[in-house]
Order: sequence, then structure tokens, then C-alpha cells
Amino acid sequence: PPARPLAGVRLLLTAGPTREPLDPVRFLGNRSSGRMGFALAEALTELGAHVVLVAGPVTLPAPRVAERVDVETALDMHGAVMERAADCDLFVATAAVADYRPMDPAENKIKKNADELTLRLVRNPDILAEVAALDSPPFTVGFAAETDHVEEYARDKLKRKKLDMIAANQVGGTHGGFERAENALTVIWRDGQRELPMMDKTQLARELAQLIVERYQEHHAA
Ligand code: C5P
Repeated sequence: PPARPLAGVRLLLTAGPTREPLDPVRFLGNRSSGRMGFALAEALTELGAHVVLVAGPVTLPAPRVAERVDVETALDMHGAVMERAADCDLFVATAAVADYRPMDPAENKIKKNADELTLRLVRNPDILAEVAALDSPPFTVGFAAETDHVEEYARDKLKRKKLDMIAANQVGGTHGGFERAENALTVIWRDGQRELPMMDKTQLARELAQLIVERYQEHHAA
């Protein structure tokens, strides 16, 4: 096979967590390190793709990619992606996007006066589903981090969000995933499935990138 099978392919990839502000000094966040996404962005770059990485707040060394756009909130990430989605061939959503954001972030620091504090949250846009629903969508790859029923939920997500491929992993407990150097993935597409066993995220990213290439090429040959 050619060494750079993704040469000329415009690829957009989201990675990392998002931060949803409560007030100027506090936010709702999650445990995503961004490591899997950054490793995948590099692996896809090595295969020749022109990778634009839309990254939430992470503490990782700068990856070798064509372009990096740093964002903080889910709405920022949504904006950065939708501006570019129509002009890309492949979209890979590895980001752990917050499902909800505080409805009305306080302008000033919230004071601890009351014994109870109620937060009102509103849904964030589903970036991946929106990209997949475009008139002529790019080839879309999603992730699913689940604590249980991994394959079942991932299959459902593949269908519901109209994705071309989904990479599912088990999180929590003794498994890999968030905050770990290793991970294992079940990769699912419409008429196939592959297990990538527990391994270092850099190696796992290379293997997943290969699978993406195979499916992407098949998709375009069809
Ligand atoms: O539905 P769920 O959040 O589990 O789906 C996970 C997949 O959807 C991941 O690929 C994630 O990057 C993407 N996603 C997104 N925007 C959201 C929520 C999830 O792009 N608001």
C-alpha cells in the first residue's frame, strides 16, 4: 500500500474536553486528557492527511499537525467545526464535549452565601451529529466512551447519528480510557467490526488510523 494514502485529504478532528463556565473562575469539565485524539491527529498526519485539530483545553505537547485551533467551550468548538466542516473530506470527533452548559454563567464570582445552590443547565449542540447531517457530509468517525453495554450503545449511536464509523471503549473501573496511557477499542461500521486490544494509545491510534483509511477508501470506491 502507498505510504501516504491520505495525501490531499482534508481532515478535521476534535480532541480533548470542553469547559463550561459557571462564573469567571469556575467551570464544569470532564476527565478527557485529549491523548487519544492528539495521537490520532498525528497518526493521520503521518498518513498524509491535512489535519486541522480543534482542541479543547489540554496539557499535552504540541502535536505535528497542519493547523491547530484552540477552543474552550462546547459552543466554541461547535463554531470552529461548523465553519470548516463543509470543506473537509473526513471528520473525526474524539472530543469529550460537555452535553450541558450552565444556562446563565454568572458575570462575577459566585459567593458562598446560601447553603444550597441550584445550577440550571441547557443542552449543548451535538457537533458530530450536526456534521453527519450536512447535505454532503464528510466521512464521519465518532467515539463512544461507555461504562457498560459498549457494543450495543455504540451500534445505536452509529445508526442514530448516521456515522460511517464509530470507535467504542469501556471507561471506568480497571479499564483503559480517560486519564490512562492505554486503551482498547471496538471499531464498528455498517457491515463490519474489529477489536483493537489494550495497547499504548500511540500504537492504538496508528491501528485505528489504518482502519479509517481502509473504510474511507472503500467508501470512495463505492
Ligand atoms: O452521544 P455521545 O456524546 O456519547 O457521542 C460521542 C461522540 O459524539 C463523540 O465522537 C463525541 O466527540 C461526539 N460529540 C460531539 N458533540 C457533542 C457530544 C458528543 O461531537 N455535543
